[in-house]
Amino acid sequence: MQERKLILKTIWHSAICLAFASSIVITPRFSLAEPVSGASKAAQIRIDDSAHTFRLDAGDTTYAFGVNQAGALQTLYWGKRLRPADPIPAAKADNGTSSFDPPVNATPQEFVGWGGGLSIVPDLKITFPDGNRDLVLKYVDHKIDGNQLTITLKDIRRDVFVHLLYKADGETGIIARSARIENHTSQALTIEQVFAATWNLPASDDYRLTYLTGRWADEWNLQQQALRPGKVVLESRKGSTGDEVNPWFAIERGQQPDQETGDVWFGALGWSGSWQINIEEDWQERPRITGGYTPFDFSYLLAPGQSMETPTFYGGYSHTGIGGASRLLHRFELGSMVPQAPHPRVRPVLYNSWEATGFDVNEAGQEALAEKAASIGVERFVMDDGWFGERKDDHAGLGDWFVNPQKFPHGLKPLIDKVHSLGMDFGLWVEPEMVNPDSELYRNHPDWVLNFTDRPRSEGRNQLVLNLARPDVRAYVFGFLDKLLTENDIAFLKWDYNRNWSEPGWPSAPLPEQKEVYVKYVENLYSILAELRQKHPGVEIETCSGGGARVDLGILRFTDEAWPSDNTDPFDRLSIQDGFTYAYAPGLMMAWVTDSPNWMNNRSTSLEYRFLSSMQGSLGIGANLNKWNAEDFTIAKHLIDQYKAIRETVQQGSLYRLMSPENGEYSATESVAQDQHEAAVFAFLHSSSKGKPFPRLLLRGLDPDATYSIHAEDGSLADGTVERASGDYWMQHGVSVSLRGDFQAALFTLQREPGQ
Ligand code: DGJ
Repeated sequence: MQERKLILKTIWHSAICLAFASSIVITPRFSLAEPVSGASKAAQIRIDDSAHTFRLDAGDTTYAFGVNQAGALQTLYWGKRLRPADPIPAAKADNGTSSFDPPVNATPQEFVGWGGGLSIVPDLKITFPDGNRDLVLKYVDHKIDGNQLTITLKDIRRDVFVHLLYKADGETGIIARSARIENHTSQALTIEQVFAATWNLPASDDYRLTYLTGRWADEWNLQQQALRPGKVVLESRKGSTGDEVNPWFAIERGQQPDQETGDVWFGALGWSGSWQINIEEDWQERPRITGGYTPFDFSYLLAPGQSMETPTFYGGYSHTGIGGASRLLHRFELGSMVPQAPHPRVRPVLYNSWEATGFDVNEAGQEALAEKAASIGVERFVMDDGWFGERKDDHAGLGDWFVNPQKFPHGLKPLIDKVHSLGMDFGLWVEPEMVNPDSELYRNHPDWVLNFTDRPRSEGRNQLVLNLARPDVRAYVFGFLDKLLTENDIAFLKWDYNRNWSEPGWPSAPLPEQKEVYVKYVENLYSILAELRQKHPGVEIETCSGGGARVDLGILRFTDEAWPSDNTDPFDRLSIQDGFTYAYAPGLMMAWVTDSPNWMNNRSTSLEYRFLSSMQGSLGIGANLNKWNAEDFTIAKHLIDQYKAIRETVQQGSLYRLMSPENGEYSATESVAQDQHEAAVFAFLHSSSKGKPFPRLLLRGLDPDATYSIHAEDGSLADGTVERASGDYWMQHGVSVSLRGDFQAALFTLQREPGQ
C-alpha cells in the first residue's frame, strides 16, 4: 500500500486550522483501532494531505471526498463504514464522453457554482453588478473546529468565498451540511440561487425514490417510484414547509428493497420556509441530490463584507433498509436535535379541548373538562383556540392576544390554578404569525402583513400572514408571547399556523432586498422560538400547522413535538402515522383519542381501538369527556396506565414496521426499548374476511439470546401462545394474535426476564 500522510482528528480535539501546505502529519497512519460496524460514538475526521482527500467516519457510515486536478471538490464515497486502513483514492475529474458532456457536469461535485458550462443544478448562482454571472469555485483551504470540518472554496477571479460546513453525528452517521457565502468584493452581488449541499450517490440502475406527500387531513402519504435519468423536484413555494410534500427523501438500492435490508441513502432539510430538493440522475445513473431554499421568487443581496448561511441539509446512510434509515433519523432527532436532546423527557399524556369545545371555551367549561381529564391520568391540560380577543369563530381575534373578558372574567389564573390543583400542568394554543383583518392589531397596523402595495390581500381561513421579517412585527410577536409566559404559569404552547403565504411582498424594505422575506421571516421565527425558550426554559412547544404542514428538521430544533394531522380518525391515522415515522420519531408524533363516530369519516370505532391507534405515538385525549359514561372512564384510565408503562419504549425506542397499513387490511408496529428489555407490539385489523386469520407477526430487534415473557389482555393472543421464549423464537417463530371482526386492535408486550 502506498505510504500516505494522515491527519486524524476526533471530535473532542480542540480547534485546529489546516491547509494542505501546512498539514499536521501522523505516521504511521491508520494506527487507531476502531469498530468497523456498530455505532462508535465519536465521529472522526481524517485528512490525507497527499491524496487531498477528506474522510468522515461516524456511526456505521463513511463519507469521503477530495480535491481533484481541477481544484473542484468531488464526492468519493458515501456508504457503509470502511476499515480504518482502507484507502480513499485521490479524486479525479470525470472527463465526460463528448463535447456535450464536459467534466464540470460529469464529475460528482460536492458544491458547484453556475459557470464554466455547468448545466446540472448549481448549488450557487450569482449575478455581479457588472453583469457577469460566471462563477467557478475552487478549493482554497480547510479547517477543523471540534467535530466540524469546514472547506473553503473561492471563485477563480473574484473574492467570493464559500465555506462548506460538515458535521457528522457520531452515533448515527448522519452528516449535517450547509454553506456560508461571503462577499469580499467591493460591490454588492445578488444571489439568485443557493442550496445547502449536494449529495452524490454511486451509479446504479435500481434505485427507488421514496418521499412523503399530502394535503390538509391527509398528510404523510408514502410515494415510491423508480429513479431514472432526469430530474424529480420536491418543493414548497408556500412560504413554509407545507404538507404537499415534506422536505425528506430516501433512496433505496436493489430490485426488491424491503423494510430491513439493503442500502438506503436519505436526507432531510432543516428549513421551515419555501424549499426545494432536486433529485437529478445523469445518464450514468448517478443521482445527485441538491437541497435548500427554492430558487423560485428568490433573490438575496449580499453587500460587501456580508455573508449568508444556508439552512442545513442532513444526509444519512443505512445498510439495514428503510426501516433502519428511519431509526437513525429518530435517534438523531431525539439524541441531537430537539431542545431537550440528548435526553428528552417522555411526552406527558395531554388533553386538548379543540374537538370537544371548538372556539366555545370558557372558565367553567374548561374546568369541568380538566376535572374529568385528571381523573383518567392526564398530565397536561391544553386549552386550544378561542380564549383571546373577540374570538367567537375563525373570523376575528387573531393578533389580539389578550384574554377574552367574557369567557375568562378573571383572566387565565383561575383555570390554571384549577388545572394545577388537579395535578396537571397547563398548555395554551397560540397562532402568533397570523392576524384577522377583524382585529385591533390589523386596524392599527395594516402594513404589518405580507402584501404588495395596491394589490389584493388574499385571505385564508379569514386571516392574513404577519410579515415576521419586519423588526417591529418580530418585536410585537416576541413581546406578547414573553408577556403571556411571564404573567401565567404556562408549561406548553401549541404553536399553530393555518394558511400559506400569498402576495409575499415586503414594501417597506429596499427594493433589491424585498425577496429576502423568504429567509428573514423564518430566521426571525427561529430566533423568537430560541429567545422564548431561553427566557422560559420550562416551556415546551408543539409545532402545528393546521395539522402536519410545518414539520421539518429546522423547526424541530426549537419544538418538542409535532401535530401530524387534523385527521383524528383512528383508522386513517394508522397510515398517516406510518408515513410520519419514515422521517420523524414516534415520540414527536402527537396522537389524540377523539370521539366516535369521528367527524372526518363518520366512522365508528371502539374506545380501545382509538386508544391503541393513538398509543403508537405520544398519547393525547381530544374527546368530549362530557359525553363519556362510567365505563369509558374506566377503560381510558386502564389504557392510559398501560401506556405510561410502555411510553418510553414507544416514544424513544426503535420502531419496526412489521406490516404496513398501506395494504388496507392489516397493520402492525413494534417498538423495542433502546436496551432491548421490552417491546410493545400494536396490531390492527380493518375487517375479517372469509375467516382468514391475522398474519403471524415475526418480531424484530430483540436480543436473540435473552428470554422474553409475553403479556397481553385476555383473548388477544392465539390459543397455544407460549408464555416465555427466546428473542430468537419470537423473531423466527413469531406471534399469532387472535383478531376477528371490524376495526379490531391488539397490544402485547414482551419483557426480558430478569438477570439476562
Ligand atoms: C388547526 C389545528 O391543527 C387544530 O388542532 C386546532 O388547533 C385548530 N387549528 C384551532 O383553530
